[in-house]
Amino acid sequence: MKIAVVGTGYVGLVTGTCFAETGNDVTCIDIDEKKVNSLKNGKITIYEPGLEVIFQRNLEQGRLNFTTDLAEGIEGAKIIFLALPTPPGEDGSADLKYVLTVASDLGPILKEYAVIVDKSTVPVGTADKVHAAIKENAKVDFDVVSNPEFLREGVAVDDFMKPDRVVIGTTSEKAKKLMETLYAPLVRQGNPVIFMDEKSAELTKYAANSFLATKITFMNEIANMCELLGADVDSVRKGVGTDTRIGKRFLFAGIGYGGSCFPKDVQALAKSAQQVNYDFRILKSVMDVNEDQKTKLIPKIKEYFGGDLKGKTIGLWGLSFKPYTDDIREAPSLYNIEKLVEAGAQVKAYDPEGMENVQGQIGEKITYCHDAYSAINGADALLIATEWPVFRTPDFEKVAKLLNNKVIFDGRNLYSPEQMKDLGFTYVSIGRET
Ligand code: UGA
Repeated sequence: MKIAVVGTGYVGLVTGTCFAETGNDVTCIDIDEKKVNSLKNGKITIYEPGLEVIFQRNLEQGRLNFTTDLAEGIEGAKIIFLALPTPPGEDGSADLKYVLTVASDLGPILKEYAVIVDKSTVPVGTADKVHAAIKENAKVDFDVVSNPEFLREGVAVDDFMKPDRVVIGTTSEKAKKLMETLYAPLVRQGNPVIFMDEKSAELTKYAANSFLATKITFMNEIANMCELLGADVDSVRKGVGTDTRIGKRFLFAGIGYGGSCFPKDVQALAKSAQQVNYDFRILKSVMDVNEDQKTKLIPKIKEYFGGDLKGKTIGLWGLSFKPYTDDIREAPSLYNIEKLVEAGAQVKAYDPEGMENVQGQIGEKITYCHDAYSAINGADALLIATEWPVFRTPDFEKVAKLLNNKVIFDGRNLYSPEQMKDLGFTYVSIGRET
């Protein structure tokens, strides 16, 4: 099938590449000429494990094409995906200017029936708005479908190829059939394609992300209680997670959730609620707790150094908001850097993928090191912000030798408190014995 994807950011590029891999003829369209040229020349623009190899293959075999020209890109496409940014506006609600501009541009250039798919995370009611924007100047029949994506950064290709479920919001039989055909190769293992109306599909995305953010936040609050009561959050996690109604995943306490999705989507759903005069109290608490959780270890670091961090050097392991990505949006590391620098400390950091982006954002405010050990060489303490595998089993003898004090503040609970005690470290983690 010939399909088009408008927007070659994270979602658009993964969507386009993966649909090319399942045999479709895909054209990706973006206004950013530099990006399009780079992609055309085989240079991938994002870091995502496993994507590059299928990107190269499909580019070479001619199933994956890039252009800056919308009319040329959608020529003959039966399905046109909109994978455009929906950044939070000043009031926290999603800003639809990119989506609606492209929708208006599409109207006059559609030459035959096509399904226009909202892939971006958009507020309930957006499919109707997109429909209206296209219809204004459309000369042919078309349908607008909501098909939210549930990809996690770092495992996006796997999530795309083997989705738990595919949610498709449409009331048109014609659109339903086309979408079913497109997704058929991805749901062979029996995972469902769930059809519903457009609004329910739009809300499903916000509900899923907000629920997951709430699940993490709930465990973070339990961890905070564990610290006050002398209980152990790892044991509690195992104890509750084995209840199949609760499930084992997304119960890991830490220094808060980050990334480009959870913070933005929780905020946008709260804003939607406000707009319909609904007081969504849980969401307000989730945002509140997460805000505090991100820098939860700072007072403990200060306390260790007698209240004063002036002239201290903190070695920081992890900058990206989670492992296997170079994405630093809303990363807890950045909030910690801000607080540490504000308190007069110096920060020496290492991250396997995120350093370039941090340097682009905050410049030389901190020192960037080429490996984990150089970041703690001569540092007064180690702070861990991201659970990259390379930090999980370090040479503790070396760590002890390089640090001025044998103290680790672990925001991701990587080590066992017993082992740390045996090794003679002062070890402060989240919701566990110190
Ligand atoms: C999330 C969702 O998981 C995807 O389904 C969704 O498609 C995506 O947002 C999106 O809306 O585009 P992502 O932001 O890539 O994906 O990251 P997650 O793996 O979900 O992690 C989010 C945050 O939660 C991270 O900061 C992570 O450290 C934190 N987390 C996760 C915890 O603190 N504890 C956990 O147990 C799990």
